[in-house]
Amino acid sequence: MTVEAVQAAVELDRDGALRLLRAAVALKLAEPTGQDRWALGVEGASLLGAPGVAAMIRHHALLYADLADPIALLRRGGGGGALAAYWTYAEGGPPDAAEAEAYSRLMSDSQAMVAAQVLDAWSIARHRRLLDVGGGEGTFLRAVAARAPGVERMLFDLPAVAERARARFGAEGLALQATGGDVFQDALPTGADVVSLIRVLHDHDDGPALAILKAAQAALPPGGTLLIGEPMAQERGAERVGDAYFGMYLLAMGSGRPRPAREIIAMCREAGFFSARRVRTAMPVIASVIVARN
Ligand SMILES: C[S@@+](CC[C@H](N)C(=O)[O-])C[C@H]1O[C@@H](n2cnc3c(N)ncnc32)[C@H](O)[C@@H]1O
Repeated sequence: MTVEAVQAAVELDRDGALRLLRAAVALKLAEPTGQDRWALGVEGASLLGAPGVAAMIRHHALLYADLADPIALLRRGGGGGALAAYWTYAEGGPPDAAEAEAYSRLMSDSQAMVAAQVLDAWSIARHRRLLDVGGGEGTFLRAVAARAPGVERMLFDLPAVAERARARFGAEGLALQATGGDVFQDALPTGADVVSLIRVLHDHDDGPALAILKAAQAALPPGGTLLIGEPMAQERGAERVGDAYFGMYLLAMGSGRPRPAREIIAMCREAGFFSARRVRTAMPVIASVIVARN
């Protein structure tokens, strides 16, 4: 693009656009190609190719607002700010339709990269029926359908969110058994031989997280499988995401914490699972995986 084209796109005068471009070059988001033209840099091209990352960055306005005074946030024990208001279920109770739409879209936009890590690590086609607990509007299950169309799909989430999944799958003509409910009050539907918890456990404090694991254990038959996929703490090479980012993010949200894999494994055993082990993923910075057996 020429500087004039950048100016028009972001409605800046020439000095403003040049200042922005030079900053972007320093961050490898852009690079000058000569003759007053500018192209994407290596990081800019990566961002363009991963729309989920861009969606996450956009919603970081909320995180930055909460982090304006990180010590105050730590002193009050988290929550009470912009992120807590966004993730209604963390502090305020179940979302209405508009609240469910806001966070479910973000989750859906950023789900592809998570599903790729989880489904590359664990062959889901070996299972008959999958129940995705906290499954959002069903984007993980759509990735499952693409890889293993023979696996039957069930989803459980708060009513306003499950309704979104039901409408979406209905419009696309994809079979889905979607159940609306609260995992802390309602029994999970049975009949699945595998239950997944994708980016769910880290949202909850230890007591409720253990309750979710117990609910999954009760919903599975003997020999059933629990598949946990989320960014975890103390993962070598991924500490910046697991410990720094999610450590502060979940504090600001007002609920949950990133856990090291060994703690999640111990919680699975405590919840009644016969065994639990980690399965390596290519990019723990996106998600690590633990598989437990009933
Ligand atoms: C961080 S999102 C992850 C969504 C999806 N698994 C994904 O990875 O894109 C957590 C999900 O858990 C759901 N959830 C939170 N509290 C819940 C509860 N008490 N019962 C059922 N679902 C709940 C939320 O509505 C949300 O869809």
